[in-house]
Amino acid sequence: MRSFNGRDILSLKDFERQEFFRVFDVAEQMDPIARNRRNVDMLKEKTLVTAFYQPSTRTRLAHEAAMHRLGGHVTGFSDSKMTRAGDWYQESIKDTVKMLEFYGDVIVMRHFQMGAPQEAAKWSSVPIINGGDGWGEHPTQILTDLYTVLRTKGRIDGLKWVAVGDMRMRTMHSLGYALTQFDCPITFVGPTADALFPGSPDMRMPESYKADFNQYSLNFKEAEHIEQVIADADVILVEPVIQPDYTQARQEASKDHSLTPPAYKITRELLASKAKSDAILLHSLPRMDEIPLDVDATKWSRYWQEAYHGVVMRMALLALVLGATE
Ligand code: NCD
Repeated sequence: MRSFNGRDILSLKDFERQEFFRVFDVAEQMDPIARNRRNVDMLKEKTLVTAFYQPSTRTRLAHEAAMHRLGGHVTGFSDSKMTRAGDWYQESIKDTVKMLEFYGDVIVMRHFQMGAPQEAAKWSSVPIINGGDGWGEHPTQILTDLYTVLRTKGRIDGLKWVAVGDMRMRTMHSLGYALTQFDCPITFVGPTADALFPGSPDMRMPESYKADFNQYSLNFKEAEHIEQVIADADVILVEPVIQPDYTQARQEASKDHSLTPPAYKITRELLASKAKSDAILLHSLPRMDEIPLDVDATKWSRYWQEAYHGVVMRMALLALVLGATE
């Protein structure tokens, strides 16, 4: 297995099965520290740099919290408008990263341009962690989700997945790549063009990802309505279909945005009437109305657990790429 020490975490494509299990092992070691709200000194000589060109609640703060739990330091920006990259100069990724690498020992980057973290990694002497790039990938979120499945179900192999939402989403692409390494069939349920309102974009899995998934022997299907496929699912992973354009640095909400059609919505009634009794429901959050609030207090919901695991997973990844654990 390749060492994680000094490695970038950019994509789950080409992430190998054994490497997933290594990350999950380290996460399990980290779990008691976070659960007991302790801070240790494992990374006391290390600094994390956050470079966020797009808004974030969980990804940035979970990385920061993880760094604090491991005794490290944090610097960075949560809005590139405060930097020369987001003002008149529009300073390039290369020039920005050529500075950031001197300010810390690992950089977590979220960007509205697909491939921006890869570009950063080309120029950086310290590891780059992709915190979401445009409609590209979101590897640390899906590692968090798989860890949540492992902890709640005791296994990953043999479970059937349904993923519902906008298939242009970065989480969906990382998920597809990740499941190529496990015995997990998956069904993608995403809206066709015009399904939400006249002129709404095609939100089904893009052909380029499907071609990749086929090449890596992912066992996947597509369906049109969650009701057709929910009964078989052990894991239901949901993302919004009502959401901003992820290729923009920021978008304000339009007051009259539409509501989520029933085909992409997980209601309490649907779960009670159709879902397996022991299925689990994941959502990386933020949500719109695709999971109504009354689903929170049901036996299916696991998204708060998932959010907690977001800290544990980032502790594991930081410890690994900074060489604190092999
Ligand atoms: C993302 C967000 O906040 O935009 N959520 C997350 O990282 N937990 C959604 C995403 O990038 O998929």
